[in-house]
Amino acid sequence: MKAEMSISIDEKKALQERVKRLKEEKNAVILAHYYQEPEIQEIADFIGDSLELAKKAATTDAEIIVFAGVHFMAETAKILNPSKKVLLPDLKAGCSLAESCPPDAFRKLKAEYPDHVVVTYINCSAEIKTLSDIVCTSSNAEKVIKSIPEDKPIIFAPDKNLGRYLMEKTGRNMLLWDGACIVHEAFSLDKLLEVYRENPSAMIIAHPESEAHVLKVANYVGSTSGMLNYVKSSEHDTFIVATEAGILHQMQKNVPHKKLIPAPAKEDNTCACSECAFMKMNTLQKLYNCLQNEGPEIILEEDLMEKALLPIERMLELS
Ligand code: 13P
Ligand code: SF4
Repeated sequence: MKAEMSISIDEKKALQERVKRLKEEKNAVILAHYYQEPEIQEIADFIGDSLELAKKAATTDAEIIVFAGVHFMAETAKILNPSKKVLLPDLKAGCSLAESCPPDAFRKLKAEYPDHVVVTYINCSAEIKTLSDIVCTSSNAEKVIKSIPEDKPIIFAPDKNLGRYLMEKTGRNMLLWDGACIVHEAFSLDKLLEVYRENPSAMIIAHPESEAHVLKVANYVGSTSGMLNYVKSSEHDTFIVATEAGILHQMQKNVPHKKLIPAPAKEDNTCACSECAFMKMNTLQKLYNCLQNEGPEIILEEDLMEKALLPIERMLELS
C-alpha cells in the first residue's frame, strides 16, 4: 500500500471522490471524531465528540457504519447497531485509557466494593461496559454523577483525571481507577504558562482528561464539542487549546479570524505528543480499503453486546 504521506493533492482528491462514490453505492455513513486527519474529516457525513457520535450511530439508517475514530467508539456503534456492519479502518486504533483497564483486574475491584455504583467513561472496552451501571462521556459526566443518589458510593473508571475533576465539580467522593490518557498527560504547565504570558488576552481551554494543574488554570473545561462551541461563541479572539491537535482543523474552520494556539507538550513538539497515535492510525487510504473490502469489521458476541448496551442506554436516556 502506498504511504499516505506520499500521495499528492490530486491523488488525495481522487481518493476522496472514490470514497464518496463507494459510500453512496453501499449506503454507508462515515462518522468521524475531531481528532481524525483533516482529509478524513472533509469527507465524513458527521463529525462530533464521543456522545454525539454515539447518538448518531444510534439513529443512522445507513446499512454500513464506517467509524473514523478509535476502537471503543466503533464498538459502541456496533453495540447500538448489532445487525449493522460497523467498520474501523485500522483495528489497532486503540486508546490508552481503554487499555489501562483490563477486565479481570476491574472485576476484582468491583467485587471488593459490591455496594458501589460503577460509572465508566465511554473510553473503555465493551467488556468493561458490561461491568458498569452507567456509562458517561466528557460532555455528560457531571450530569451522570449527579443522577446517582447521594448516599450511593461510586467507582469511577478508567480516567483518574476526569474522575478527580468530577469529584471537585460535584463534591462527590469516588473511588478512582488509575488510568490516564497519554496525550492529555503530555501537556506542560510551565510551557503553557509561558505561551499565556506571550498572549495575555488568551483564554485557556482544556479537555477534562488533562491533569489537574492544567485544568486549574483553564478558563473553560469541556468535551471536544464543548471546546469548539466555546471558541465559537466566545467574545475573545485568542485561545490556548489543551487537547489533541486534530481539533484545530474544525475549530479554525469555524473561527477563521481567531487565533488558536495548541497547548505545548512537555517534550519537544517535534515528537507530536499532542497527537493521538491511535487516532492517527486511520488514514484516507485505509478508509477507502475498508469501505471497498467491507472490513476490518467490528465483531462482538451477542451476549456481550446485550450486556454492554444497558449502561450505554442509561446514559443516552439521561443525555
Ligand atoms: P470527546 O468525547 O470529548 O470527543 O473525547 C474523546 C476522547 O477520546 C478525548 O481524548
Ligand atoms: Fe484515548 Fe487519549 Fe487518544 Fe482520546 S486522545 S483516544 S483518550 S489515547
